[in-house]
Amino acid sequence: MHWRSKLLHSRTHTPKDFRSLTVPVYRGSTVLFDQAADIVDDWRQRTHGYTYGLYGSPTVLELGARIAEIEGAHHCFVVPGGQAAIATTYLAFCKAGSHCLLPWSAYGSNQEMAAGLMKGLGIEVEAYDPLIGAGIERMIRPNTALVWTESPGSVTMEIQDVPAIVAAAKARGVPVALDNTYAAGVLFDAFQHGVDVSVQAVTKYIGGHSDILLGSVSVASAPLYERVGSAWAQLGMAVSPDDASLALRGLQTLGVRLERLESSALAVATWLKARPEVESVLHPALPECPGHECWKRDFTGSASVFSFVFRPQVPSARIASFVDALTLFAKGFSWGGTASLVMVYPTLKRPDRDFGGRLVRLNIGLEEPEDLIQDLDRALESLR
Ligand SMILES: Cc1ncc(COP(=O)(O)O)c(C=O)c1O
Repeated sequence: MHWRSKLLHSRTHTPKDFRSLTVPVYRGSTVLFDQAADIVDDWRQRTHGYTYGLYGSPTVLELGARIAEIEGAHHCFVVPGGQAAIATTYLAFCKAGSHCLLPWSAYGSNQEMAAGLMKGLGIEVEAYDPLIGAGIERMIRPNTALVWTESPGSVTMEIQDVPAIVAAAKARGVPVALDNTYAAGVLFDAFQHGVDVSVQAVTKYIGGHSDILLGSVSVASAPLYERVGSAWAQLGMAVSPDDASLALRGLQTLGVRLERLESSALAVATWLKARPEVESVLHPALPECPGHECWKRDFTGSASVFSFVFRPQVPSARIASFVDALTLFAKGFSWGGTASLVMVYPTLKRPDRDFGGRLVRLNIGLEEPEDLIQDLDRALESLR
């Protein structure tokens, strides 16, 4: 062969069966079939064998299989981010004319999708009080296609009575989806509590190092596998095997990171609670957090993210200077990584409360908690 053909058709033989302790990174869009009769085009690679890279290389499927194993799911679809997981779930269950319920404490971009793309498609997404519990029954309509839960809620941290919501929805044949990112799929057992679909921003705790964006959609049963899988495949939710490999690495240390993050976050939250400038600390493990009783009953631990509210005597204008005075807390979105972060919400309101720009969210990282407390202390002193 000419060397130019050799560039593409090699006859080299490297030894096979390299047995690495870690999952190799398999890249590929085209997948090879042995013969014409073997060719299939189907997203169900678990049963049909590999067909096309879009539906996941072995690295991506291994990540999905491990998340499913840890969550006790029937199957887990890996998607490009947490928001992609939310979009996949909406589109799997809702169509024009559907009604859907979403807690008003849901992740902001979920609410934006509800009021934006979903509304445009003729899907009505109605907001509900995250603490409604069994009262959700009154909001379910004949055309309700999906009930979303997210516990704790984003930023305001309400813990939902997911079992009560599941019971009410199940009685009316309505599926329940949970954004289980806070619990990293482990601190709250979504499927034991009857949830049908558990989504995670793998970006946060499983990724764990703020260097990837990934999401997961785990389903409870074979019919849900078909339903969600069909939407997932049509949407073309392709995932980079390199990112999946980083998430597989993240999974290995998730246990030790969560333990450490829990104790550090609790130490900082407890310290803040005693400060005269602070009105309330919204941390699921503290009794003043709305829904704390449900956390105590249903969760096996708490994580790294929580919020606190300054007393009205601290003018909201001073809160930006407090944030700027912090040196160990980086200012930036997201959470669940190794670094401590701070975020302010100057316009945050819920239908039952206006925070007056006095709410601050912290993500506690792997720094020494004493250093973080000193940093907060210095920044609070600078307010005087
Ligand atoms: C609760 C929750 N769900 C979903 C997402 C979206 O995840 P991603 O940033 O991976 O799209 C986020 C991101 O902040 C989140 O906090």
